Amino acid sequence: MMIKRPKGTQDLSGRQLSRIQKVEETIRIIMNDYRFNEVRTPVFESYDLFSRGVGNGTDVVSKEMYDFNDKGDRHLALRPEGTASVVRAYIENKWFGPEFPNPFKAYYIGPMFRYERPQAGRMRQFHQLGCEVFGAVDPSVDVEVISLAMDLFSELGLKQLKLLINSLGQPADRQAYREALINYLKPFEAELSSDSQRRYLENPLRVLDSKDTKDQEIVKNAPKMIDFLSEGSRKHFDRVIELLELFEVPFEIDHQLVRGLDYYQDTVFEIVTNSKEFGANTTICGGGRYDGLVESLGGPSTPGIGFAAGMERLMMLLDIEAVDLNEVEPLDVYIASLGEEAEETVLKLMNQLRHLGYSVDRDYLGRKLRTQFKQAERQQAQVVVTIGSEEVEKQEAVFKGQKTKKELSIHLDDLDESFDALFNQLTLDSSVIDEYFKA
Ligand code: HAM
Repeated sequence: MMIKRPKGTQDLSGRQLSRIQKVEETIRIIMNDYRFNEVRTPVFESYDLFSRGVGNGTDVVSKEMYDFNDKGDRHLALRPEGTASVVRAYIENKWFGPEFPNPFKAYYIGPMFRYERPQAGRMRQFHQLGCEVFGAVDPSVDVEVISLAMDLFSELGLKQLKLLINSLGQPADRQAYREALINYLKPFEAELSSDSQRRYLENPLRVLDSKDTKDQEIVKNAPKMIDFLSEGSRKHFDRVIELLELFEVPFEIDHQLVRGLDYYQDTVFEIVTNSKEFGANTTICGGGRYDGLVESLGGPSTPGIGFAAGMERLMMLLDIEAVDLNEVEPLDVYIASLGEEAEETVLKLMNQLRHLGYSVDRDYLGRKLRTQFKQAERQQAQVVVTIGSEEVEKQEAVFKGQKTKKELSIHLDDLDESFDALFNQLTLDSSVIDEYFKA
């Protein structure tokens, strides 16, 4: 029987993968502009890292984690997210030390694992692009992190996005709010969805972001977190809002926004799309502040903030919005060949051109010339050269610019000195230049 890939995973190749690579390239450029450095951490970690870091009571840890005991009986888990891992690495490698930049700004792109019901944009192995900043409490850092996310998406060409923002205050503020919320929900208990009934005592804030319409109706008039913020948290939030306005980042305050992981305090945000194909308000990106997390995992008291975006959702949105990523890289030179006697000359030529920095391909299967030219066309080759017995004998060949239709002959001994100039002449479309001067 044929073996299939596990549910909720993907095999990638061809154009789909080229698009992902293009997006990753853009991400790396922008991350570098913002002076974030890449970090890579293991895909599996100690189970305790997530149960303590993300929270035992969260769905991510209690229902969705791939955990197992290894042959040495260690309790491990495939990482369901990146923040806890990066915090662990920050503490373990002492990235807070004087030889590292402070604030420490890191990003990652990599696979994450959650046992969820697979559907469009929800996978069991998915990929996140994430970033974290350690060591800075200033509201301007919140705004920088949010702008980074917005910049990334707009640089990629995405338009239908909305930024939602809220504050969860300090842990003590949240405790007071929690009680108020439980009191408010009590009379409605019987009317709540079964999920919310279960949640309302252990994690009443999660009732706020229930997808159930009846629940949503009930929480509409619930007390708002914002009225429970301590003075410091209120000031922080007001300043974040002020700066977002100053930088003209459009946003909406969403009093129902609570996020599904336990480590957050103060600023939380999500970037959602209203694209019809996705269904209402699909979250592309989520993040926030976690000023208590480093300390709670055994590090020095250090504030932190970050976000993560789902790469699969990002790619889906790019497809839906039909964003052209120019993912097909045209081939520089295609070498067509005729007869076995051409073989050595072709190999030598191919090597030489690749060392000069050109992408080169050829036929490996002894196919007809016509088929070889089709191959060249399919790869959008810019220049084609044909090597047969005559070319071998004279060590001279005619290179042809596919778009310009120009042809130039060159002695193969002169390639190193002259090929750059020849390639430019064959590929530079003079009509573009003429057009420019006419204008
Ligand atoms: P999160 O909201 O759990 O946050 O995940 C962030 C994003 O990952 C989601 O908005 C979504 O786009 C994507 N995502 C999550 N689960 C799946 C899935 N099963 N399939 C496809 N995509 C998925 C975090 O993970 C936090 N670590 C973000 C963060 C970083 N907060 C601070 N720093």
